[in-house]
Amino acid sequence: MGENKGKIILQKARKEGFAVPAFNIYNLETMQVVLETAARMQSPVMLATTPSTVNYFGHDFLLALAEKARERYKIPVVFHLDHFQDKEELKKYIKAGFSSGMIDASRSPYTENVEIVKEVVSFARGYGSVVEAELGNVGRGEQKGTLTEPGEAKGFVRETGVDSLAVAIGTVHGIFKGKPNLDFKRLEEISNLVDIPLVLHGGSGLSDNDLKETIKRGISKINIATELKEAFTDGLKNYFQENPEENDLRHYMEAGKKSMEKVVAEKIKVCGSEGRG
Ligand code: 13P
Repeated sequence: MGENKGKIILQKARKEGFAVPAFNIYNLETMQVVLETAARMQSPVMLATTPSTVNYFGHDFLLALAEKARERYKIPVVFHLDHFQDKEELKKYIKAGFSSGMIDASRSPYTENVEIVKEVVSFARGYGSVVEAELGNVGRGEQKGTLTEPGEAKGFVRETGVDSLAVAIGTVHGIFKGKPNLDFKRLEEISNLVDIPLVLHGGSGLSDNDLKETIKRGISKINIATELKEAFTDGLKNYFQENPEENDLRHYMEAGKKSMEKVVAEKIKVCGSEGRG
């Protein structure tokens, strides 16, 4: 078992002060955009798949594509299981061959979160996989989260042995209603106390400047989902407005891909991961 690629790129990012972009993908086209753009820009990249995406693809099909992607693109590519709340489901996919996954027990009380993460970490070690966990809780849309306590983060990492930690510092999943107010001081405190790579969830809707500030203060992985979905969908909608009779999927999918490609390239630049692959 060689060293885990996800671990290597995140540790490199932490050491060298950039972030690995983790783009959520949904289908073959979004996967192609992420891989082709990252390869063109020589950026390491993570492709994040939530439980519903894994169900949509079929995990075996997704794993086969992941293997081909690693052969075809000469950059570090990691397929990452994102936001798994059911530990048994996550373990099943780790056993099937995924090398990186997030166990999200962030809505459970602290001690329960620790127990669940510890169990998954110990299981993942047997397969050479790495595990991300979340402490505090990143909100969703209007629903407020709970910010990560720096002291707790230190204990959590020590107790669980987790490989990377998602922190709640004021981001939300989805697009912000109103102006984002990130707690940079809290992030800095966590980063001073914890030496594993830190992860920013809810990357959509933040300014380039805010994203860069989080990287300066210790974020090594930035998750982007909503902005990609919106860009792809807007590309399709515009295409159909101009070509209402079009029925060739390869034509209109291309419009969605082009529109999403811009966002992927912009985020790679902001992450500072261009040329690090
Ligand atoms: P956004 O949808 O806000 O980009 O969040 C993505 C995310 O954190 C996926 O885990």
